[in-house]
Amino acid sequence: MAETLVETRPANTAFRADVLAGLALPQKAVPARWFYDEAGSLLFEEITRLPEYYPTRVERAILAERGTDFARLIAPGRAVVEFGSGSSTKTPLLLQAIAPAAYVPLDISGDFLRSSAAQLQQQFPDLPVWPVEADFTAPVTLPARAADLPKIGFFPGSTIGNMVPAQALDLLRSMRSTLGPRSQLLIGMDLIKDPAMLIAAYDDAAGVTARFNLNLAARINRELGGTLPLDALRHEARWNDAAARIEMHLVASAAIRFEVAGQAFTMAEGETIHTENSHKYDRRSQNLLLAAGGWRPVERWTDQDGQFSLLLAEAAEAHHAP
Ligand code: AVJ
Repeated sequence: MAETLVETRPANTAFRADVLAGLALPQKAVPARWFYDEAGSLLFEEITRLPEYYPTRVERAILAERGTDFARLIAPGRAVVEFGSGSSTKTPLLLQAIAPAAYVPLDISGDFLRSSAAQLQQQFPDLPVWPVEADFTAPVTLPARAADLPKIGFFPGSTIGNMVPAQALDLLRSMRSTLGPRSQLLIGMDLIKDPAMLIAAYDDAAGVTARFNLNLAARINRELGGTLPLDALRHEARWNDAAARIEMHLVASAAIRFEVAGQAFTMAEGETIHTENSHKYDRRSQNLLLAAGGWRPVERWTDQDGQFSLLLAEAAEAHHAP
């Protein structure tokens, strides 16, 4: 299998660079995007089915219930551009509610992109599907045949929550530039709520999220010649109130030393590797974030319990100031 050759692959080089740089920081940190190797992706799928993990279920319910709203607010003939389509199972709920001209999934993983595009094409045989293998954190050039179509960006899952505000703004601006003037954006954002409910969602009773977090350390060992002692690291989910975010950490339960790619590291007992941020918002912070990123909020849907929200925005015109 290709796994034996991964040292020479660019993705592995980027992983190694991120891990080595992150472990050298005073607060050790590894970017959350490295959670999703094959084992991590399977564990995430399992997380989405946990009783404590409400975001996937609630967002899906909103998408399923609000089809007539989407049909009213999203004009027919738009190209739906999905950011990080992955294995997206929410897309059909949007596509069947509106009358899109094309579906343009963007994903950094070509394999993932092609298999999910093929699956979607089967469900919507008459819909043009134009996948683009791209890193959507920077502006993306869309296929020429999409150029003249009005666009709607789709970014479900509250993935934007993984980004600190400055990164989230950069992303919203990139999306604005990828999608062009008069485009729309349908984006999922998780809501601030009782910290006990948030902690439960990120530290479930069955321990699936703990395995998801620890898989990152295991992946470092597998792919980067790491010697992280997995039995001396434990999962922790914290609510950081000042930053309005859940943080996931790997906490050293004893003083440890280990190597990664030939470099030595130490951790004191209680020291952590910060592995994920998941920012939560309220209505005003959502509006402010969107506006700062060049988007005017048009409509907002939340579930009855106020757990999760989906927002529709439109590309703002040039700055207006009095
Ligand atoms: C994929 C970013 C939406 O932050 O809730 C789930 C990832 N991490 N449990 C989230 C995640 C731990 C998830 N997102």
